[in-house]
Amino acid sequence: MGDLHLAGRTGVVTGGGRGIGEAICIFMADLGAHVIVADIDLETAARTAETIRGRGGEAAAVRVDVGTSAGIDPLVEHIDVAGRSLDFLVNNAAIYAGLRPTPLEDIDEQEWDRVQRVNVAGVWNCSKRLLPSLSASGGGHIVNIASAIAFRGSPLLLHYVTSKAAVVGMTKAMARELGDRNITVNAVAPGFTWSDASLEKSTDEQLAAQIARRSIKRAQQPEDVTGAVAFLCSDLAGYITGQTLVVDGGSHMN
Ligand SMILES: NC(=O)c1ccc[n+]([C@@H]2O[C@H](COP(=O)([O-])OP(=O)(O)OC[C@H]3O[C@@H](n4cnc5c(N)ncnc54)[C@H](O)[C@@H]3O)[C@@H](O)[C@H]2O)c1
Repeated sequence: MGDLHLAGRTGVVTGGGRGIGEAICIFMADLGAHVIVADIDLETAARTAETIRGRGGEAAAVRVDVGTSAGIDPLVEHIDVAGRSLDFLVNNAAIYAGLRPTPLEDIDEQEWDRVQRVNVAGVWNCSKRLLPSLSASGGGHIVNIASAIAFRGSPLLLHYVTSKAAVVGMTKAMARELGDRNITVNAVAPGFTWSDASLEKSTDEQLAAQIARRSIKRAQQPEDVTGAVAFLCSDLAGYITGQTLVVDGGSHMN
């Protein structure tokens, strides 16, 4: 048995510079983990790491582009130079901010490819490059951030919905492949969350409609997602793998 304390553990959170990723970084560090904040935007990653240190925690910031395997090089180097092994990896980075509702026949081909490259291949890239570091600790936990939108099949974001559905499938296949290495792989699927990225693309009416669909009728905040991620990165969840946990205040139900 274990508990939710992550003292002595080291983990990477991609896309940790803002929004849900930032909240995950801060929560994991509050539980005692050393958190490596990895983001394509080094300024925001450094800001998250600074926030953590200001709260008495341990963190480092590294610039990565999860869209290519080579884009992970700085992270691998950072881990090697620091002589660390990894206990958890949270694949949270994705292209979400800036995507506008677009009918499927009007989605730009380059944007389609970019979304799949970052949101889908990004999970694969980061996981494969960090496997040696996870194995070095004797195993560990991978948590992929999917989205409840994959189950709802919302219209006008076909590239994004497709990418998040792929993350759910990839999570199952990775779990089967990595179980022998004592690595669990799960996904957390948040509902519509009031991160900056969501608020900048929504009208007041849309925000109110989102709340009305929930069983728990309030806006979902980034902090609502963090407990599920921490649990799946802890020893308490050592026998759970290949699962997707929907965290959306009871909108979608399995
Ligand atoms: N906000 C929501 O309503 C919601 C709902 C369900 C799932 N999600 C998922 O949660 C995660 C975070 O969402 P958010 O609202 O905080 O989004 P966001 O767009 O605010 O944050 C994404 C982060 O990923 C980083 N990033 C983007 N491309 C990258 C790349 N190539 N390499 C490394 N980092 C990169 C960005 O710089 C940013 O810090 C995403 O996976 C998103 O798909 C969000």
